[in-house]
Amino acid sequence: MIKQIPVSDLRVGMFVNKLGGSWLDHPFWRGAFKVDSAAALKKVQDSGILEVWIDTAQGPDVAEPVAEAAIPDQVEHALVEDATLAEDDPPLPERVAMEREAARATKILGASMKAVTALFEQVRHGRALSVDQVMPMVDEIAESVLRNPGVLIALARLRRKDHYTYMHSIAVGALMVALGRQLGLPPRALREAGLAGLLHDIGKVHIEDALLNKPGRLEDHEFEVLRRHAHMGYETLQAGGGAEDAVLDVCRHHHERFDGTGYPDRLAGDNISLYARMAAVCDVYDATTSNRSYKVAWQPAYALRRMTEWRATQFDPAIFHAFVKTVGIYPTGTLVRLASNYLAVVLDQSGETLLTPRVKVFYSIPNKRRVPPRVVDLAQAPGERILGFEDPAAWGITDLENLWAGMDTGRK
Ligand SMILES: [Fe+2]
Ligand SMILES: [Fe+2]
Repeated sequence: MIKQIPVSDLRVGMFVNKLGGSWLDHPFWRGAFKVDSAAALKKVQDSGILEVWIDTAQGPDVAEPVAEAAIPDQVEHALVEDATLAEDDPPLPERVAMEREAARATKILGASMKAVTALFEQVRHGRALSVDQVMPMVDEIAESVLRNPGVLIALARLRRKDHYTYMHSIAVGALMVALGRQLGLPPRALREAGLAGLLHDIGKVHIEDALLNKPGRLEDHEFEVLRRHAHMGYETLQAGGGAEDAVLDVCRHHHERFDGTGYPDRLAGDNISLYARMAAVCDVYDATTSNRSYKVAWQPAYALRRMTEWRATQFDPAIFHAFVKTVGIYPTGTLVRLASNYLAVVLDQSGETLLTPRVKVFYSIPNKRRVPPRVVDLAQAPGERILGFEDPAAWGITDLENLWAGMDTGRK
Protein backbone atom coordinates (compact mmCIF):
# COMPACT_ATOMS: atom_id res chain seq x y z
CA MET A 1 0.00 0.00 0.00
CA ILE A 2 1.22 3.50 -0.79
CA LYS A 3 0.60 5.90 2.06
CA GLN A 4 1.49 9.45 2.89
CA ILE A 5 3.32 10.04 6.16
CA PRO A 6 5.03 13.01 7.80
CA VAL A 7 8.80 12.96 7.39
CA SER A 8 9.15 12.69 11.18
CA ASP A 9 7.66 9.16 10.93
CA LEU A 10 10.15 8.03 8.29
CA ARG A 11 12.55 5.31 9.48
CA VAL A 12 15.56 3.46 8.10
CA GLY A 13 14.33 0.47 6.11
CA MET A 14 11.18 2.10 4.80
CA PHE A 15 10.62 2.27 1.08
CA VAL A 16 9.98 5.77 -0.20
CA ASN A 17 7.77 5.77 -3.24
CA LYS A 18 7.58 9.50 -3.68
CA LEU A 19 8.69 12.65 -1.90
CA GLY A 20 6.42 15.61 -1.16
CA GLY A 21 7.03 18.64 -3.39
CA SER A 22 8.74 18.81 -6.75
CA TRP A 23 11.57 16.42 -7.55
CA LEU A 24 13.59 19.34 -8.78
CA ASP A 25 13.44 21.00 -5.38
CA HIS A 26 15.48 18.44 -3.56
CA PRO A 27 18.68 16.54 -4.06
CA PHE A 28 17.27 13.09 -4.85
CA TRP A 29 17.56 11.84 -8.34
CA ARG A 30 15.89 8.49 -7.91
CA GLY A 31 12.15 8.14 -8.34
CA ALA A 32 11.73 5.68 -5.52
CA PHE A 33 14.24 4.29 -3.05
CA LYS A 34 14.75 2.41 0.15
CA VAL A 35 16.02 4.45 3.10
CA ASP A 36 19.02 2.21 3.60
CA SER A 37 21.03 4.10 6.21
CA ALA A 38 20.82 6.69 8.96
CA ALA A 39 22.69 9.04 6.62
CA ALA A 40 20.03 8.64 3.92
CA LEU A 41 17.31 9.25 6.49
CA LYS A 42 19.04 12.41 7.68
CA LYS A 43 19.37 13.63 4.11
CA VAL A 44 15.61 13.36 3.62
CA GLN A 45 14.89 14.96 6.99
CA ASP A 46 17.30 17.82 6.33
CA SER A 47 15.93 18.53 2.87
CA GLY A 48 12.97 20.48 4.16
CA ILE A 49 10.45 18.00 2.75
CA LEU A 50 7.48 17.70 5.09
CA GLU A 51 5.89 14.51 3.84
CA VAL A 52 6.71 11.39 1.89
CA TRP A 53 4.77 8.52 0.37
CA ILE A 54 5.96 5.10 1.49
CA ASP A 55 5.24 1.74 -0.07
CA THR A 56 4.41 -0.69 2.74
CA ALA A 57 4.60 -3.64 0.36
CA GLN A 58 8.32 -2.99 -0.10
CA GLY A 59 9.35 -1.88 3.38
CA PRO A 60 8.13 -1.45 6.95
CA ASP A 61 4.96 0.43 7.74
CA VAL A 62 4.86 3.15 10.39
CA ALA A 63 4.32 1.85 13.91
CA GLU A 64 0.84 2.11 15.35
CA PRO A 65 0.42 5.39 17.21
CA VAL A 66 1.93 5.03 20.65
CA ALA A 67 0.13 7.90 22.33
CA GLU A 68 -1.58 6.71 25.47
CA ALA A 69 -4.55 8.87 24.54
CA ALA A 70 -5.38 6.20 21.96
CA ILE A 71 -5.87 3.60 24.70
CA PRO A 72 -9.37 3.41 26.19
CA ASP A 73 -9.58 4.19 29.91
CA GLN A 74 -10.97 0.83 30.93
CA VAL A 75 -7.97 -0.87 29.33
CA GLU A 76 -5.63 1.33 31.31
CA HIS A 77 -7.54 0.53 34.51
CA ALA A 78 -7.55 -3.20 33.84
CA LEU A 79 -3.81 -3.03 33.29
CA VAL A 80 -3.18 -1.14 36.51
CA GLU A 81 -5.29 -3.65 38.40
CA ASP A 82 -3.30 -6.46 36.83
CA ALA A 83 -0.06 -4.85 37.89
CA THR A 84 -0.89 -4.46 41.56
CA LEU A 85 0.65 -7.24 43.58
CA ALA A 86 -1.81 -9.16 45.77
CA GLU A 87 -1.00 -10.70 49.14
CA ASP A 88 -1.21 -14.24 47.85
CA ASP A 89 1.17 -13.58 44.96
CA PRO A 90 4.43 -15.49 45.22
CA PRO A 91 7.15 -13.24 46.64
CA LEU A 92 9.46 -11.68 44.08
CA PRO A 93 12.65 -13.73 43.76
CA GLU A 94 15.90 -12.50 45.22
CA ARG A 95 16.90 -10.07 42.53
CA VAL A 96 20.05 -8.27 41.55
CA ALA A 97 19.86 -4.74 40.16
CA MET A 98 19.79 -4.58 36.38
CA GLU A 99 23.11 -2.73 36.35
CA ARG A 100 24.71 -5.87 37.76
CA GLU A 101 23.02 -8.26 35.36
CA ALA A 102 23.38 -6.30 32.12
CA ALA A 103 26.90 -7.38 31.17
CA ARG A 104 26.25 -11.00 32.14
CA ALA A 105 22.94 -11.07 30.23
CA THR A 106 24.69 -9.66 27.14
CA LYS A 107 27.23 -12.47 27.25
CA ILE A 108 24.56 -15.14 27.73
CA LEU A 109 22.59 -13.69 24.85
CA GLY A 110 25.60 -13.77 22.53
CA ALA A 111 26.41 -17.38 23.38
CA SER A 112 22.75 -18.42 23.12
CA MET A 113 22.43 -16.80 19.73
CA LYS A 114 25.35 -18.88 18.42
CA ALA A 115 23.97 -22.06 19.97
CA VAL A 116 20.41 -21.54 18.70
CA THR A 117 21.69 -20.76 15.20
CA ALA A 118 23.67 -24.00 15.20
CA LEU A 119 20.70 -25.90 16.58
CA PHE A 120 18.26 -24.66 13.94
CA GLU A 121 20.82 -25.38 11.20
CA GLN A 122 21.26 -28.88 12.51
CA VAL A 123 17.52 -29.55 12.43
CA ARG A 124 17.23 -27.91 9.01
CA HIS A 125 19.70 -30.45 7.68
CA GLY A 126 17.67 -33.30 9.07
CA ARG A 127 19.88 -34.17 12.02
CA ALA A 128 18.07 -35.09 15.23
CA LEU A 129 18.00 -32.50 17.96
CA SER A 130 19.37 -33.54 21.30
CA VAL A 131 17.70 -31.93 24.27
CA ASP A 132 20.82 -32.50 26.39
CA GLN A 133 22.69 -30.24 24.03
CA VAL A 134 20.21 -27.40 24.63
CA MET A 135 19.71 -27.68 28.38
CA PRO A 136 22.86 -25.84 29.55
CA MET A 137 21.75 -22.84 27.48
CA VAL A 138 18.22 -23.00 28.91
CA ASP A 139 19.71 -23.07 32.41
CA GLU A 140 21.87 -20.01 31.78
CA ILE A 141 18.93 -18.08 30.35
CA ALA A 142 16.70 -19.16 33.25
CA GLU A 143 19.27 -18.14 35.85
CA SER A 144 19.70 -14.69 34.33
CA VAL A 145 15.93 -14.20 34.17
CA LEU A 146 15.55 -15.28 37.78
CA ARG A 147 18.28 -12.89 38.91
CA ASN A 148 16.62 -10.08 36.97
CA PRO A 149 13.66 -10.73 34.69
CA GLY A 150 13.84 -7.50 32.70
CA VAL A 151 17.37 -7.28 31.35
CA LEU A 152 17.85 -10.29 29.10
CA ILE A 153 14.30 -9.94 27.76
CA ALA A 154 14.78 -6.27 26.89
CA LEU A 155 18.19 -6.86 25.31
CA ALA A 156 16.83 -9.74 23.22
CA ARG A 157 14.01 -7.52 22.00
CA LEU A 158 16.40 -4.83 20.81
CA ARG A 159 18.82 -7.02 18.87
CA ARG A 160 16.60 -8.41 16.33
CA LYS A 161 17.00 -7.06 12.86
CA ASP A 162 18.35 -10.23 11.29
CA HIS A 163 17.78 -13.82 12.25
CA TYR A 164 14.53 -12.88 13.88
CA THR A 165 13.49 -16.46 14.58
CA TYR A 166 16.60 -17.22 16.62
CA MET A 167 16.47 -14.21 18.90
CA HIS A 168 12.69 -14.59 19.15
CA SER A 169 13.18 -18.17 20.32
CA ILE A 170 15.58 -17.05 23.04
CA ALA A 171 13.24 -14.23 24.11
CA VAL A 172 10.19 -16.49 24.31
CA GLY A 173 12.23 -19.02 26.31
CA ALA A 174 13.24 -16.27 28.74
CA LEU A 175 9.69 -14.93 29.00
CA MET A 176 8.36 -18.43 29.70
CA VAL A 177 10.77 -18.80 32.63
CA ALA A 178 9.87 -15.37 34.03
CA LEU A 179 6.15 -16.01 33.64
CA GLY A 180 6.47 -19.50 35.14
CA ARG A 181 8.23 -17.99 38.14
CA GLN A 182 5.38 -15.52 38.57
CA LEU A 183 2.88 -18.38 38.39
CA GLY A 184 4.79 -20.17 41.15
CA LEU A 185 5.95 -23.14 39.07
CA PRO A 186 8.66 -25.31 40.66
CA PRO A 187 12.25 -25.16 39.29
CA ARG A 188 11.93 -28.32 37.18
CA ALA A 189 8.84 -26.95 35.49
CA LEU A 190 10.62 -23.64 34.86
CA ARG A 191 13.38 -25.42 32.93
CA GLU A 192 10.78 -27.26 30.91
CA ALA A 193 8.87 -24.05 30.17
CA GLY A 194 12.14 -22.36 29.11
CA LEU A 195 13.00 -25.25 26.78
CA ALA A 196 9.48 -25.19 25.33
CA GLY A 197 9.79 -21.46 24.63
CA LEU A 198 13.18 -21.91 23.02
CA LEU A 199 11.90 -24.62 20.68
CA HIS A 200 8.34 -23.40 20.04
CA ASP A 201 9.07 -22.21 16.48
CA ILE A 202 11.53 -24.95 15.51
CA GLY A 203 9.05 -25.95 12.78
CA LYS A 204 10.00 -22.75 10.96
CA VAL A 205 13.16 -24.46 9.72
CA HIS A 206 10.83 -26.14 7.23
CA ILE A 207 9.38 -22.85 5.95
CA GLU A 208 11.16 -20.83 3.30
CA ASP A 209 12.86 -17.61 4.45
CA ALA A 210 11.21 -15.68 1.64
CA LEU A 211 7.81 -16.45 3.14
CA LEU A 212 8.91 -15.91 6.76
CA ASN A 213 10.24 -12.46 5.88
CA LYS A 214 7.68 -11.50 3.27
CA PRO A 215 6.74 -7.84 3.64
CA GLY A 216 3.10 -6.88 3.55
CA ARG A 217 0.01 -9.04 3.83
CA LEU A 218 0.19 -12.74 3.20
CA GLU A 219 -2.17 -14.40 0.71
CA ASP A 220 -4.46 -17.08 2.12
CA HIS A 221 -2.43 -19.92 0.63
CA GLU A 222 0.76 -18.40 2.11
CA PHE A 223 -0.83 -18.30 5.54
CA GLU A 224 -1.73 -21.91 5.08
CA VAL A 225 1.95 -22.79 4.51
CA LEU A 226 3.15 -20.63 7.41
CA ARG A 227 0.70 -22.25 9.80
CA ARG A 228 2.24 -25.62 9.09
CA HIS A 229 5.23 -24.69 11.25
CA ALA A 230 3.23 -25.63 14.35
CA HIS A 231 2.61 -29.27 13.57
CA MET A 232 5.88 -29.59 11.62
CA GLY A 233 7.76 -28.51 14.74
CA TYR A 234 5.82 -31.04 16.75
CA GLU A 235 6.68 -33.80 14.32
CA THR A 236 10.34 -32.79 14.17
CA LEU A 237 10.69 -32.98 17.95
CA GLN A 238 8.75 -36.20 18.12
CA ALA A 239 10.98 -37.81 15.50
CA GLY A 240 14.10 -36.66 17.35
CA GLY A 241 12.87 -38.08 20.67
CA GLY A 242 14.06 -36.90 24.06
CA ALA A 243 11.78 -33.87 24.46
CA GLU A 244 9.04 -34.05 27.08
CA ASP A 245 5.43 -34.17 25.91
CA ALA A 246 4.86 -30.69 27.37
CA VAL A 247 7.55 -29.29 25.05
CA LEU A 248 6.07 -31.04 22.01
CA ASP A 249 2.68 -29.67 22.96
CA VAL A 250 3.91 -26.06 23.01
CA CYS A 251 5.33 -26.50 19.52
CA ARG A 252 2.00 -27.68 18.23
CA HIS A 253 -0.34 -25.43 20.20
CA HIS A 254 1.27 -22.04 20.80
CA HIS A 255 -1.02 -20.51 18.14
CA GLU A 256 -4.22 -21.83 19.70
CA ARG A 257 -6.38 -19.03 21.08
CA PHE A 258 -8.44 -19.08 24.27
CA ASP A 259 -11.73 -18.62 22.37
CA GLY A 260 -10.99 -21.49 20.00
CA THR A 261 -10.08 -19.40 16.95
CA GLY A 262 -6.43 -20.44 16.75
CA TYR A 263 -4.65 -23.25 14.92
CA PRO A 264 -3.94 -26.06 14.14
CA ASP A 265 -6.51 -27.90 16.29
CA ARG A 266 -8.88 -25.04 17.26
CA LEU A 267 -8.61 -25.91 20.92
CA ALA A 268 -10.23 -23.57 23.45
CA GLY A 269 -9.94 -22.70 27.16
CA ASP A 270 -8.44 -25.33 29.43
CA ASN A 271 -8.18 -27.78 26.57
CA ILE A 272 -5.05 -25.82 25.71
CA SER A 273 -2.23 -26.93 28.02
CA LEU A 274 -0.87 -24.54 30.64
CA TYR A 275 2.49 -24.18 28.83
CA ALA A 276 0.79 -23.53 25.49
CA ARG A 277 -1.43 -20.85 27.06
CA MET A 278 1.71 -19.27 28.55
CA ALA A 279 3.54 -19.50 25.22
CA ALA A 280 0.67 -17.77 23.39
CA VAL A 281 1.08 -14.66 25.56
CA CYS A 282 4.91 -14.65 25.48
CA ASP A 283 4.94 -15.22 21.71
CA VAL A 284 2.55 -12.37 20.88
CA TYR A 285 4.33 -9.95 23.23
CA ASP A 286 7.73 -10.68 21.74
CA ALA A 287 6.51 -10.72 18.14
CA THR A 288 4.71 -7.37 18.37
CA THR A 289 7.61 -5.66 20.14
CA SER A 290 10.24 -6.79 17.61
CA ASN A 291 11.40 -4.98 14.52
CA ARG A 292 10.80 -7.10 11.46
CA SER A 293 11.78 -6.63 7.86
CA TYR A 294 8.19 -5.57 7.17
CA LYS A 295 7.07 -3.73 10.28
CA VAL A 296 8.32 -1.40 12.95
CA ALA A 297 8.16 -2.69 16.52
CA TRP A 298 5.55 -1.56 18.98
CA GLN A 299 6.78 -0.04 22.22
CA PRO A 300 6.48 -2.79 24.89
CA ALA A 301 4.19 -0.60 27.00
CA TYR A 302 1.95 -0.10 23.97
CA ALA A 303 1.94 -3.83 23.15
CA LEU A 304 0.78 -4.61 26.69
CA ARG A 305 -2.12 -2.20 26.32
CA ARG A 306 -3.17 -3.69 22.99
CA MET A 307 -2.90 -7.19 24.46
CA THR A 308 -5.11 -6.07 27.35
CA GLU A 309 -7.76 -5.20 24.78
CA TRP A 310 -7.48 -8.66 23.23
CA ARG A 311 -7.15 -10.63 26.41
CA ALA A 312 -10.79 -11.69 26.71
CA THR A 313 -10.64 -13.67 23.49
CA GLN A 314 -7.00 -14.44 22.78
CA PHE A 315 -5.44 -15.34 26.08
CA ASP A 316 -6.17 -17.06 29.35
CA PRO A 317 -7.02 -14.01 31.49
CA ALA A 318 -5.30 -15.39 34.60
CA ILE A 319 -2.10 -16.05 32.67
CA PHE A 320 -2.20 -12.66 31.02
CA HIS A 321 -2.68 -11.14 34.48
CA ALA A 322 0.46 -12.89 35.69
CA PHE A 323 2.33 -11.85 32.55
CA VAL A 324 1.69 -8.16 33.20
CA LYS A 325 3.09 -8.62 36.69
CA THR A 326 6.12 -10.31 35.15
CA VAL A 327 7.15 -7.56 32.74
CA GLY A 328 5.53 -4.55 34.44
CA ILE A 329 3.38 -1.85 32.91
CA TYR A 330 6.55 -0.03 31.92
CA PRO A 331 9.05 -2.80 31.11
CA THR A 332 12.81 -2.33 31.48
CA GLY A 333 14.11 -0.05 28.73
CA THR A 334 10.85 1.91 28.33
CA LEU A 335 11.13 5.67 27.79
CA VAL A 336 8.72 7.46 30.14
CA ARG A 337 7.64 11.04 30.82
CA LEU A 338 7.58 12.05 34.50
CA ALA A 339 5.20 14.47 36.20
CA SER A 340 8.23 16.69 36.93
CA ASN A 341 8.67 17.18 33.17
CA TYR A 342 11.69 14.98 32.72
CA LEU A 343 12.22 12.00 30.45
CA ALA A 344 13.56 8.86 32.06
CA VAL A 345 14.25 5.27 31.09
CA VAL A 346 12.97 2.34 33.17
CA LEU A 347 15.63 0.22 34.88
CA ASP A 348 13.78 -2.22 37.16
CA GLN A 349 10.37 -2.88 38.62
CA SER A 350 10.15 -1.81 42.24
CA GLY A 351 7.62 -1.42 45.05
CA GLU A 352 4.09 -2.69 45.58
CA THR A 353 2.73 -1.74 42.20
CA LEU A 354 4.44 -1.94 38.89
CA LEU A 355 3.63 1.72 38.27
CA THR A 356 6.62 2.83 40.31
CA PRO A 357 9.76 1.34 38.74
CA ARG A 358 13.31 2.45 39.34
CA VAL A 359 14.20 4.86 36.51
CA LYS A 360 17.16 6.81 35.19
CA VAL A 361 16.26 10.48 34.63
CA PHE A 362 18.28 12.05 31.80
CA TYR A 363 16.36 14.76 29.87
CA SER A 364 14.65 18.01 30.83
CA ILE A 365 11.62 18.61 28.62
CA PRO A 366 11.23 22.39 29.23
CA ASN A 367 14.97 22.98 28.70
CA LYS A 368 15.07 20.59 25.74
CA ARG A 369 18.37 19.20 26.86
CA ARG A 370 20.08 16.28 28.54
CA VAL A 371 20.81 16.48 32.24
CA PRO A 372 23.40 14.42 34.15
CA PRO A 373 21.69 11.02 34.56
CA ARG A 374 20.41 10.18 38.04
CA VAL A 375 18.63 7.08 39.30
CA VAL A 376 15.27 7.57 41.04
CA ASP A 377 13.24 4.82 42.71
CA LEU A 378 9.69 5.98 42.08
CA ALA A 379 8.44 3.78 44.92
CA GLN A 380 10.49 6.04 47.24
CA ALA A 381 9.81 9.37 45.55
CA PRO A 382 6.55 10.88 46.81
CA GLY A 383 5.10 13.43 44.40
CA GLU A 384 6.92 12.01 41.40
CA ARG A 385 5.11 9.70 39.00
CA ILE A 386 5.01 8.45 35.42
CA LEU A 387 2.60 10.26 33.12
CA GLY A 388 3.01 7.83 30.24
CA PHE A 389 5.43 6.15 27.89
CA GLU A 390 7.04 7.90 24.94
CA ASP A 391 8.45 6.86 21.56
CA PRO A 392 12.26 7.34 21.64
CA ALA A 393 12.32 8.01 17.88
CA ALA A 394 9.91 10.91 18.30
CA TRP A 395 12.45 12.51 20.65
CA GLY A 396 15.40 11.66 18.43
CA ILE A 397 16.86 9.43 21.13
CA THR A 398 19.04 6.72 19.63
CA ASP A 399 21.15 5.72 22.63
CA LEU A 400 18.43 4.55 24.99
CA GLU A 401 19.97 1.10 25.58
CA ASN A 402 23.24 2.74 26.38
CA LEU A 403 21.45 4.83 28.98
CA TRP A 404 19.65 2.02 30.75
CA ALA A 405 22.05 -0.82 30.30
CA GLY A 406 25.00 1.47 30.96
CA MET A 407 26.92 0.20 27.93
CA ASP A 408 26.86 -0.04 24.21
CA THR A 409 24.62 -3.02 23.51
CA GLY A 410 25.66 -3.21 19.89
CA ARG A 411 22.52 -1.76 18.38
CA LYS A 412 23.04 0.53 15.43
FE1 LIG B 1 4.87 -19.83 15.94
FE1 LIG C 1 6.84 -17.56 17.80
